[in-house]
Amino acid sequence: MKLSQLSLDPEIQEILRKQGIDEFYPPQAEALPYALEGKHLVLSIPTAAGKSLVAYLAIVQRLKNEGGKAFYIVPLRALAREKYEDLKAFESLGLKVGISTGDLDESDVRLSKYDIIVCTSEKADSLLRHGLHWLDKIKVLVIDEIHLIHDPSRGPTLEVIIAQFKALNPQTQIIALSATIKNAVELADWIGGKLIQSNWRPVVLKEGVFFQNTVKYNDGSIKKIVGNQKQTLELLVEESLRDGGQTLVFVNNRKSTVSLANRLSLVVDDLLSDEEKKDLKKLVSTMKREQNEVVSLEQSLVTCIEKGVAFHHAGLESAQRRAVEQGFKNRSIKCIVATPTLAAGVNIPARRVIIRDLWRYDENFGMTPIPILEYKQQAGRAGRPRYDKEGDAITIAKDANQRDSIFYNYILADTEPIYSKLGSQSALRMHLLAAISTQFVRDTEGMYKFIESTFYAYQSDKYTIKTQVDEALHFLLDNQLIDQMDSGYLATLFGSRTSSLYIDPLSAIQLKTALERSCNKEITSLSLLHAICSTPDLRSLYLRGSDEWVEEKAEKIQHSLLLDIPTPSSDDYEWFLSDLKTAFLLEDWIEEIPYDALVTKYNIWPGDVHTVVEVAEWLLHATQEYARMYNFSCVSDVNNLLIRVQNGCKEELLNLVTLKGIGRVRARALYHEGFKTVNDLRNVPVERIAKIKTIGKAVATQIKQQIGETTSRGNKSLRGTKR
Ligand SMILES: Nc1ncnc2c1ncn2[C@@H]1O[C@H](COP(=O)(O)OP(=O)(O)OP(=O)(O)O)[C@@H](O)[C@H]1O
Ligand SMILES: [Mg+2]
Repeated sequence: MKLSQLSLDPEIQEILRKQGIDEFYPPQAEALPYALEGKHLVLSIPTAAGKSLVAYLAIVQRLKNEGGKAFYIVPLRALAREKYEDLKAFESLGLKVGISTGDLDESDVRLSKYDIIVCTSEKADSLLRHGLHWLDKIKVLVIDEIHLIHDPSRGPTLEVIIAQFKALNPQTQIIALSATIKNAVELADWIGGKLIQSNWRPVVLKEGVFFQNTVKYNDGSIKKIVGNQKQTLELLVEESLRDGGQTLVFVNNRKSTVSLANRLSLVVDDLLSDEEKKDLKKLVSTMKREQNEVVSLEQSLVTCIEKGVAFHHAGLESAQRRAVEQGFKNRSIKCIVATPTLAAGVNIPARRVIIRDLWRYDENFGMTPIPILEYKQQAGRAGRPRYDKEGDAITIAKDANQRDSIFYNYILADTEPIYSKLGSQSALRMHLLAAISTQFVRDTEGMYKFIESTFYAYQSDKYTIKTQVDEALHFLLDNQLIDQMDSGYLATLFGSRTSSLYIDPLSAIQLKTALERSCNKEITSLSLLHAICSTPDLRSLYLRGSDEWVEEKAEKIQHSLLLDIPTPSSDDYEWFLSDLKTAFLLEDWIEEIPYDALVTKYNIWPGDVHTVVEVAEWLLHATQEYARMYNFSCVSDVNNLLIRVQNGCKEELLNLVTLKGIGRVRARALYHEGFKTVNDLRNVPVERIAKIKTIGKAVATQIKQQIGETTSRGNKSLRGTKR
């Protein structure tokens, strides 16, 4: 369908043409009339079929004509960036696009200046909890990857957002974008929207199984793959690359991403031109320039990238992940070996996807087959419009039987139906508390009305709902998070602060207990760090066989802990040790142990340090808020600890790290040279400061500006991150 065949604003048509979009794909043509009329919509169509564009156009046409705002909700930060950049192309219409994935205790002041806001579901939920004063201005709500309603940790938030919008702002148009799922009809019925379903895909995606040098595809075709390589994966990557195609390999664990990337880099390296090698060297030097601290583990990534291959998983720092994705998009990197996090909706130019593992380790069930939906999401990264004319997704079979079984169980199978996960106690207590705190729910009747409007209620029977909800309510009442008055329910101060801090009520109770006990005890940093690591909001590190030292050290510090310690024979003891191990990591971090040493000692990745630190900061911020609320004497201890965790430094550097651009490395260098406080830097020549290791002229100049001593070349702003 031509762009002009729809009642689409000419200016918008022009923007699309400039992007090389001249026609709409058939599912888009079917969906757009509803989308542009403001109807609720569920799009359950294949990967790469251009779902986002339908949502973008609904947003920009409506906002251009009527004003108002829109939310575009995504599950991952990487996806948020992609959608943000896409939507930026429409800014010439006079619409401002903003992105927000960060601080959950932040209100909407900064965001209110944007017309279109791309954010994660947690951010949107948190904005609703802070009483969004421009809620009634929101004309369109887009939920991308809505099949994640099925996900125990992210799903409940998604459905609660939709339920709240339907109740509070029924005129908001809801557009839900989903992978193909079996019960899309249920989803559309629940939302009250038009369902668009289709099997159409703009780029042909052939799914096949490799066995004995032959790929058998689902369209009946067969491809012989022969080459110099003896091993299957090498052979498949080489064949694709000889034809100019890039490959994305999915494996089920991080360790394999590294070892396989190393293996494959030997093959790819041989096929690179000098020009390509030069580009890769450039990419590596940019990555090195942007890194915070020198971490030798990343050397393995550097070595692979220089040979045209990268690995990608959640243990990498986000800047590195972004650099890898970018390097693949501009075709410098020829092959990425990734864990499945990269499968959710991202647009990358893989002509070939290889799914090495159809099994995955599950904490409760051991090795289990991956869901068909996940297989299809991984396969769907191949053959993306604008990048390739065709794509193929290949799995590998050991024998003919296994090949048939992969065809039957994955390639030809329908994806599973999705089910709400809001019925779990942890989800219910969190979302009920939020609903009561914002007075969205005021009494029992209101509460059932709220629950009945969720996808959970749509899929469950009344009896189950009542039992589950009653249990969650009792939990909130028993722990003084809410009160029951004659008029109904009301959140206590503790409850409403917990809701706006966006932490699990169970975490809040633990933190409060720890604070109460801290009044009668000499506390250490470790006491508080252990308390935050014990909460369900911080995912503790795994305990490994080689971690006996944790237990040994536990005996020595037990007396300083604030929360109860389970007996060594109980099931909870192992959890206790892994919480403690995580607290030790944070303790080492604030003792300025270098990244490198942390990564080795704890057998983790730099990104893991970052994740633990980020959540710890969040929980310490919450602890500090409770300490203030209850007037506990340890407020300043918590505050100091928070700044130390933010910067990874000892107490003696607290003053220096208040300077912009000065992190723990530079602060330590200054301290080492005798500059122990910001004051010590006054009246010191800029040249002297610049000479200090890791500082340099630009940072020295910025320091001088910050202490009010501008230099002649004063305006240069700092590049790079705080070190
Ligand atoms: N009508 C069109 N003509 C040309 N390119 C298009 C058209 N519609 C969308 N595209 C391009 O197709 C690519 C894939 O679109 P999009 O990311 O929206 O897919 P999707 O349906 O959301 O897939 P996934 O399920 O993998 O998230 C994008 O690069 C987009 O710009
Ligand atoms: Mg998408």
